[in-house]
Amino acid sequence: MTTNTERLVTPDSKPDDRLDQALRPGKLGEIIGQDQVRENLSILIAAARQRSEALDHVLFYGPPGLGKTTLAHVLSNEMGVNIKITAGPAVERAGDLAAILTNLRAGDILFIDEIHRLGRVVEEVLYPAMEDFALDIVIGKGPAARSIRLKLPRFTVIGATTRLALISAPLRARFGAVYRLDYYDLSAMSQIVARAANLLQVTADEGGIEEVALRARGTPRVALRLLRRVRDFAQVRADGTITRPVAREALDLLDVDARGLDDVDRRVLRTIIEKYNGGPVGLSTIGASISEEPDTIMDVVEPYLLQLGFLNRTPQGRVATRLAYEHLGLVYQDPQSQQPSLF
Ligand SMILES: Nc1ncnc2c1ncn2[C@@H]1O[C@H](COP(=O)(O)OP(=O)(O)O)[C@@H](O)[C@H]1O
Ligand SMILES: [Mg+2]
Repeated sequence: MTTNTERLVTPDSKPDDRLDQALRPGKLGEIIGQDQVRENLSILIAAARQRSEALDHVLFYGPPGLGKTTLAHVLSNEMGVNIKITAGPAVERAGDLAAILTNLRAGDILFIDEIHRLGRVVEEVLYPAMEDFALDIVIGKGPAARSIRLKLPRFTVIGATTRLALISAPLRARFGAVYRLDYYDLSAMSQIVARAANLLQVTADEGGIEEVALRARGTPRVALRLLRRVRDFAQVRADGTITRPVAREALDLLDVDARGLDDVDRRVLRTIIEKYNGGPVGLSTIGASISEEPDTIMDVVEPYLLQLGFLNRTPQGRVATRLAYEHLGLVYQDPQSQQPSLF
């Protein structure tokens, strides 16, 4: 099994990606793409500033590597407030959250990554904190127990999740603003690659930039990683300049194909096509037959294949489309014509 962290095209963060911190856009004006989200955020910021209030609670959702954490930092920069960062699995007990909350100052941002992984009990402490800026603490045990209410300063929760569906309805309802981040189009991806090449002082021509952008799965984190690997190749095997042929050769060698698919993606498609006749077949069945984590397939493989139009979701399971067959160089057979006919 290829673990997700071994994959070059995984949108999940890898140790090397820490270098990307320096490339992170700091202000809203530096954010490329996501036009609608950007526009909405600029209104949110301006309105909060005019009223001299804390920002509304904001929830970002969408596949990994698209800029959720970046946007949380941008909001803190734009508002000129502190940001405290934590993650759902890190907040184990209600007391952990209480300690974080009581250390916040007015206007501060509390960023909770993977917020869908917060425990029930912790969530229940978060509700009144988000809604009434209050913390209910129970003192004592048994019949003598009583609850006291602590006032908290007005602060902002920014939540991020790859799985909106796993967020409970009451938690979701407490976010004034909910934004979905989508895969970036080629033009935005090219701008992101060009900006990074510039900051890293890598020479790349237009064709080279576009080739990296094309293979980066609409995901800035993947684009930055591919760019670093292509830069290495250009330095060692070419004259240092990233051109289209150089980028192609480098990425082919790394087994990232023309649409950004790697071996795991192709095995998923091949399994559906060759073992299950094109589908429909359930995700867990696919996962089991190629020994991959269902989570990897759900969060990473499937959304991108759906985005490319290589997969369709039906109530019976996933179906490979004509585009998927063509991409793999296989002959497409219309499922209708395969049905046994009466005559
Ligand atoms: N809109 C964007 N423009 C430029 N770079 C971006 C953009 N969104 C993300 N990035 C880059 O991609 C990397 C991954 O983004 P991140 O915010 O960590 O994603 P997420 O939190 O959604 O997994 C960041 O290091 C950042 O440099
Ligand atoms: Mg993140």
